[in-house]
Amino acid sequence: MDKDRIKAFADKVYGDMAGAMAMGMAFVGVKKGLFSAMAEQGPMTREQVVAATNLQPRYVEEWLAGMTTAGYLDYDPDTGTFALPDEHSYLVASEGTDHFMGGLFCAAPGLLSVAPKVAEAFEQGGGIRFEDYGPDFAQALDLINSGQYEQRLTSYWLPQLPDVAERLEAGGRVLDVGCGVGRVAMTLATAFPSATVVGLDPDRESIRLAEKEAAAAGLSQRIDFIAETTRQYTPDQPFDLITAFDCVHDFAEPEATLQDIRSLLAADGTLFIVEPRAADRLEENVNALGAVYYGFSLFHCMTQSLANGGPGLGTCMGPAKTKELLGEAGFSSCEQLGIRSLTHLFYSARP
Ligand SMILES: C[S@@+](CC[C@H](N)C(=O)[O-])C[C@H]1O[C@@H](n2cnc3c(N)ncnc32)[C@H](O)[C@@H]1O
Repeated sequence: MDKDRIKAFADKVYGDMAGAMAMGMAFVGVKKGLFSAMAEQGPMTREQVVAATNLQPRYVEEWLAGMTTAGYLDYDPDTGTFALPDEHSYLVASEGTDHFMGGLFCAAPGLLSVAPKVAEAFEQGGGIRFEDYGPDFAQALDLINSGQYEQRLTSYWLPQLPDVAERLEAGGRVLDVGCGVGRVAMTLATAFPSATVVGLDPDRESIRLAEKEAAAAGLSQRIDFIAETTRQYTPDQPFDLITAFDCVHDFAEPEATLQDIRSLLAADGTLFIVEPRAADRLEENVNALGAVYYGFSLFHCMTQSLANGGPGLGTCMGPAKTKELLGEAGFSSCEQLGIRSLTHLFYSARP
């Protein structure tokens, strides 16, 4: 055996465990406003961070030390001060922007909490149902992408689809399938005041949260949120645009659901799909994002589909499988769009 290789791998295992611990500490940093309190403040003493957050001093002290060892904070031993560099603040104290990464921290505890049950499923089959993750997890999923949806969907992504924005401006109809807590539906309703907007999701708790958020944003009259899948949903008019964001790989009945979506579209309507960015070949996914997405898959996306008797397509379904599903569902055309993104792939399809 190669001793250097053993040592290098031991370092990697410690690095991975450090990453898991950093996730937990960073979760607290987002949830309890520690990052926000330190953003743009420069060096701060422990007492200043405690005063700015009104949190327990001993917890703050340990968190500051832990986040320093994890590389999130700069520490100056001469002054005993801690600083959140502006470049880090840009990513972790920027909720609501398209560059906020704190949603990942918020999803991590929910993902890892089901690891023991997922381990059982390796023997028993089945999996963890979406609703068993609870409302906090639905909100954490929302936090991962909400900034991108709010800041890029109508300004950058939709303009890549011919006619779609014009039709919605003229009072078209849009359905968001797998709407979760309603971020896409609310973004569309805000941008297109004349459009009819419907959000559909089988998870009742997500729909309850979506209705609550829409009410708070004054959008209740503009959006119908419905706790159903496309299997049950029978509207009396077709849609000009159907969006399916980060959910096609989750479907328990992908082919039937995509067929339903095709039949819900107007003859000249458009399906716009956003999926996690993964290559078709495993060897092309050997990088940090690949490991993040395979983790999401085992501990959420794949297992919740298997729990409902689905195929468990998984987070890293990739473009070839996506196009194959759309072809099997009878879509006449499917195009992968050249929209730039580090984390997502984009497709449009016509019925
Ligand atoms: C990862 S979440 C994405 C939520 C939201 N679209 C977003 O991008 O934040 C996947 C969603 O798909 C929903 N879903 C799963 N199967 C579905 C189906 N057959 N029809 C509609 N929605 C479904 C889940 O309930 C969940 O809310």
